[in-house]
Amino acid sequence: MIHIIITGHSKGLGAGITLEMLHENHHIHGVSRTDNIDIQKLAAAKGCAMDFYPCDLSHTDEITPVMQQIFLRIKESKEEVEGIYLINNAGIIHPIGTIASIDPAEIDQHIRINLLAPMIIIREFISLSAGYNTEKRILNISSGAAQNPYHGWSNYSTGKAGLDMFTRCVALEQEDEAFPVKLMAVAPGIIDTDMQTTIRSVPDGQFVHKDFFVELKETGKLVPPSVAGKHLKDLLFSPGFKNGTITDIRDQY
Ligand SMILES: NC(=O)c1ccc[n+]([C@@H]2O[C@H](COP(=O)([O-])OP(=O)(O)OC[C@H]3O[C@@H](n4cnc5c(N)ncnc54)[C@H](OP(=O)(O)O)[C@@H]3O)[C@@H](O)[C@H]2O)c1
Repeated sequence: MIHIIITGHSKGLGAGITLEMLHENHHIHGVSRTDNIDIQKLAAAKGCAMDFYPCDLSHTDEITPVMQQIFLRIKESKEEVEGIYLINNAGIIHPIGTIASIDPAEIDQHIRINLLAPMIIIREFISLSAGYNTEKRILNISSGAAQNPYHGWSNYSTGKAGLDMFTRCVALEQEDEAFPVKLMAVAPGIIDTDMQTTIRSVPDGQFVHKDFFVELKETGKLVPPSVAGKHLKDLLFSPGFKNGTITDIRDQY
């Protein structure tokens, strides 16, 4: 049995990835605030085990118990563990705007969800999976904004840049481990999800790049979550999954 832990499985890109993962040899562990009943039904129809762990990732003290529950399920599973995979996908774009216009509480919330939560999840994944001599991989969903500064996205760019660097540091540490975990970060392209709706809904004048994103939608250039989901699944299981690298899915597929 291959275990796949995914955050933000309920909507958008996470739902697109999860739908691609439905397979009778997979056990999916979804972590979000809300579940997706349609995906649960499809999983059941395809004979794919799926569990939902409700968690608000901004409450970082709730993450360790959730990861412990997941690994207890893995331990109790009667099937041989053929691999354990983690996709840190959950993320938010809010707040958008120049830094002085942003409430400090929004900065705190943003960095908890986009950076602190995946760091703690990775910490728990590495600790709790240490005894498993099996394929172990972590795919962190980053963004082109990690490499390029965007006016009005200081929180988002900083969180994703931090996630990229964390990926590289932990990947280095893992090189010397007996049963190492491989980590990569990937910019997934520009995808037609609620996050894009949020970007297009920012009041005029608050985000200088708004028209660019409106045009992408109007000209049909946003990637469907199903397409991005398939590419990310292919990358996760690919023999070319290279520890410590940061990639852009548009360079791969
Ligand atoms: N869309 C794009 O163009 C784009 C481009 C580059 C990178 N990305 C990255 O792709 C990832 C997915 O984005 P998306 O576009 O699919 O966004 P989305 O449609 O807004 O979905 C976000 C997902 O994250 C979960 N989430 C949000 N806040 C959470 C919280 N506090 N606790 C737990 N889960 C939370 C949501 O689940 P619940 O609401 O059920 O909690 C949802 O499943 C993000 O990391 C984003 O930065 C997206």
